[in-house]
Amino acid sequence: HKELDPFPANFLWGAASAAYQIEGAWQADGKGPSIWDTFSKLPGKTYLGTNGDVAVDHYHRFREDIQLMAEMGLKTYRFSVAWSRVMPDGEGAVNEAGLAFYEELVDELRRYQIEPVLTLYHWDLPQALQDKYNGWEGRETIAAFKSYCRVLFERLGSKVTYWVTMNEQNVLTSLGYRWELHPPNVADTKRMFQANHHLNLANADAIALFHELVPTRKIGPSFGYGPMYPLRADPNDVLAAENGEAFNNSWWLDVYCKGKYPKVIWKQLEALGIAPQLLEGDLELLKRAKPDFLGINYYHGGTAAQNTLEKERIASQEKAFSGIDPYLMQPKDQQAQTPETVLFQSVENPYLEKTDWGWEIDPVGFRVALRRVSDRYDLPIFVTENGLGAIDLEKDGKVHDSYRIDYLAQHILEMQKAITDGVTVIGYCAWSFTDLLSWLNGYKKRYGFVYVDRDEEDEKELTRIKKDSYYWYQEVIQNNGLRK
Ligand code: BG6
Repeated sequence: HKELDPFPANFLWGAASAAYQIEGAWQADGKGPSIWDTFSKLPGKTYLGTNGDVAVDHYHRFREDIQLMAEMGLKTYRFSVAWSRVMPDGEGAVNEAGLAFYEELVDELRRYQIEPVLTLYHWDLPQALQDKYNGWEGRETIAAFKSYCRVLFERLGSKVTYWVTMNEQNVLTSLGYRWELHPPNVADTKRMFQANHHLNLANADAIALFHELVPTRKIGPSFGYGPMYPLRADPNDVLAAENGEAFNNSWWLDVYCKGKYPKVIWKQLEALGIAPQLLEGDLELLKRAKPDFLGINYYHGGTAAQNTLEKERIASQEKAFSGIDPYLMQPKDQQAQTPETVLFQSVENPYLEKTDWGWEIDPVGFRVALRRVSDRYDLPIFVTENGLGAIDLEKDGKVHDSYRIDYLAQHILEMQKAITDGVTVIGYCAWSFTDLLSWLNGYKKRYGFVYVDRDEEDEKELTRIKKDSYYWYQEVIQNNGLRK
């Protein structure tokens, strides 16, 4: 790839994880329960009833895991802090043992010159806050989050350079408050947009506090970004794709980076009576807090077409329906209050292959994503997740995951093209370092460079086994990029 710019000399090659998906030790050393500890135990909610009670036991094996990172040559490692480990009730008393765990983790990473990237919120809200304040629907949770952030900023501000506020706020709100797939298991768009507004405020509060307490370090949210394409050159489809961009992406990114909600969507929500309630000072706060970088998690984008179905629905008024497609919901149903209906409909992209879980594989979309986000917001980008979920087979201590290598290589190449185009990318964290618990797919859907020997039924020994992709990524890091 001679014609391409090289990766910057200090490029942060890394891998990522999240507390609930790796740590286990769900009640150890004073940890309080999170909404995921509760939700995963409700019958039928997760794949074969898997939960994070043990996960891959990273809590007890973090030194071994970091040893594997060091041997791989990892420059950075993104992990999340379990809020209820640090504050069992989500506010008030601090659990020193929980805090000490993260300090030891950070120290251990530093010992090997691995730059820690600390995510403050990767979906595991303390159950106590859900019970007391209705979670993110209560404004009290914003204050609780700020108090938790303060504890971490004060304790780890001098040791951690990169901080992530919210992980994929778009995903957690949609799955949690609309599709009943994540806790708090709600299907109500009005409540979703209100909770989302509070998450925006919590994000802004955390950033503002960080800049006050730790002015020399960097903070930003990690957003699950997928570029929207028009199905055809028909201007109506192009318009639909723009609507899709606004609804799926700018609705969050504009708030993070410009401190305001995009008008098109706001008006649409107002018309449906589901716009969030704003209090005095909210918009000022959103405007004031600016991220230093933008974390982008990239898996795939989406394709939009003009929503002709909406016209049909209005014409016929009522149609039998089952499923979660918003534009086919019964009009009287809560779910019919959906802003997409007049804006766009999501359709399959005829050009893209899919993973075993039906996720489109679109490396060029990664370049499109990086360029769009960089052009719009002009912030350095940290790729905080990208990877392939697949069924891996282990035999005689080997895992031949050439499909993962192909996937990652194609995405890294497109990222390098984006850098050559002029985008500032400071780092890339593949999802994930070790195999881990997929929120809804147990241990069947694996992402890691390191295989963990366990499955849904049997925890086994949790032995760590390096996959082929481990050695391949080791070389990528050594070369500071793909081999020419
Ligand atoms: C991202 C999340 O949405 O996707 C991760 O930040 C998650 O926590 C990853 O594991 C992959 O999702 P899944 O459903 O394939 O495990």
